[in-house]
Amino acid sequence: MTTLSIGSTAALSLRADVLVIGATKGEDGAVVAAGGESLVAAFDGRLTDTLTAVGATGAEGELHRIPTFGAAKAPLVLVVGLGEAPADGFTADALRRAGGNVARALTGVKKAGVALPLTGAEAVGAFGEGVLLGAYSFEVYREKSREGRKDAVKDVVLLGVKARDKGAKAAIERAAITAASVNQARDLVNTPPNDLNPKDFAAIAVDTGKNAGFKVEVLDDKMLAKQGFGGILGVGQGSAAKPRLVRLGYTHPKAKRTIALVGKGITYDSGGISLKPAGSNETMKMDMGGAAAVLGAVTAVARLGLAVNVTGWLALAENMPSGTATRPGDVLRMYGGRTVEVLNTDAEGRLVLADAITRACEEEPQMLIDVATLTGAMMVALGNDTYGIMSNDDDFRGAVHDAATRVGEPAWPMPLPTELRKSMDSPIADIKNMGSRMGGGLVAGLFLQEFVPDGVSWAHLDIAGPAYNEGEVTGYKAKGGTGVAVRSLLQVAQDVADNRI
Ligand code: BES
Ligand code: MN
Ligand code: ZN
Repeated sequence: MTTLSIGSTAALSLRADVLVIGATKGEDGAVVAAGGESLVAAFDGRLTDTLTAVGATGAEGELHRIPTFGAAKAPLVLVVGLGEAPADGFTADALRRAGGNVARALTGVKKAGVALPLTGAEAVGAFGEGVLLGAYSFEVYREKSREGRKDAVKDVVLLGVKARDKGAKAAIERAAITAASVNQARDLVNTPPNDLNPKDFAAIAVDTGKNAGFKVEVLDDKMLAKQGFGGILGVGQGSAAKPRLVRLGYTHPKAKRTIALVGKGITYDSGGISLKPAGSNETMKMDMGGAAAVLGAVTAVARLGLAVNVTGWLALAENMPSGTATRPGDVLRMYGGRTVEVLNTDAEGRLVLADAITRACEEEPQMLIDVATLTGAMMVALGNDTYGIMSNDDDFRGAVHDAATRVGEPAWPMPLPTELRKSMDSPIADIKNMGSRMGGGLVAGLFLQEFVPDGVSWAHLDIAGPAYNEGEVTGYKAKGGTGVAVRSLLQVAQDVADNRI
């Protein structure tokens, strides 16, 4: 595990394996960034020449290792490219990405000192968060293939930050709590579906609640049946692993408002009787990324003790085809009594979410955000990095988008065009679970909106694109589960606590 600390030792005299400095893009090559001054002096004018000689340009993500030959106690300097130096300082996300790049370059290192331009608590927190997120890798299932693999960097000491700066210390604390939640969400997404069914997920939620100090209640399939949760049961009834609905509850004595967070938790989405073809089902263990994000966010809110009440709802089911599975053509009676004609069993996320949204709203929260790997259509629309935000409240949608942007999670507002609603009209039930293929992501949003009562500011985050990374790893992004939306939800909760929303 990687730990962050603040060190008061001068860079040159720090006993460490590696000293990290930054380089920015200058007119004629790399320029050593602020923080590296003492090293520039110790190299006696030869550092810039050395950087030129090894081909450094200062471009973002560039990494060069230079031996110190005794110029510092640490034997090696790692120079990380920071890109163009903006006049008003690096953005939080540029520092997060730098942290991620540094962490991955330090794999196998025991102790590293960081002498980068980290001015102020926000910069320290952002860089630290990047380090802890970038250091992540999922190693649980390696046996033979573990041989020869190096551990993540152990100790990262941030230099040039005042050791008694309370703001910087708090920022590091917060970065550690945030990253732990994101990394737990990544672990949950990466865990194969044979080891993470709804019951397993619920048990992890119970444990997490015990450790972080929030309440966890689990409804099993019998209790779900008794209370009429037809959506969650209908999706889960084809699997030998029965569904669960988990309620997470965090309250603060000074809180004035409650926000409900609802996560889609399909531990495996085969499509059900509307079976997905080979090529479309290999990564469907990630279909619980929304529920993982909700658990992560509530955990971080509780550990930080934010002054806001939060309920979290994990709608957990496995979507499998079998003799007991819901058929295309079946009508489900949802929690609350509405009926849904299921025409495609692969449009299952909206069914479990509808039940959970109705239940969450019984407690009359002022705000509700649902998070779901809901539609392939949203990936077609926005790509693999950006999630879509739909809402019944323009101001709230803007506030969620703003929070997402500040934490470096790309998101974009999407509309809920009322014309599309009639494509879900059913000849026999209240609504069908699918409609127009065109605008499929928006149709799913319109379906969910039917279950949100008036008076609740609601936002729907369709994270199907960014929840799982099959592409390259840069900055602090991970391979596989990304833990996306944990940090957005946490920031929204913080903004509500701060009366900014
Ligand atoms: N879990 C999928 C959506 C998805 C697809 C997430 C690819 C991540 C990557 C969801 O349950 C689904 O199957 N949606 C269908 C809906 C359709 C049948 C109306 C889709 O998007 O094709
Ligand atoms: Mn599906
Ligand atoms: Zn799904």
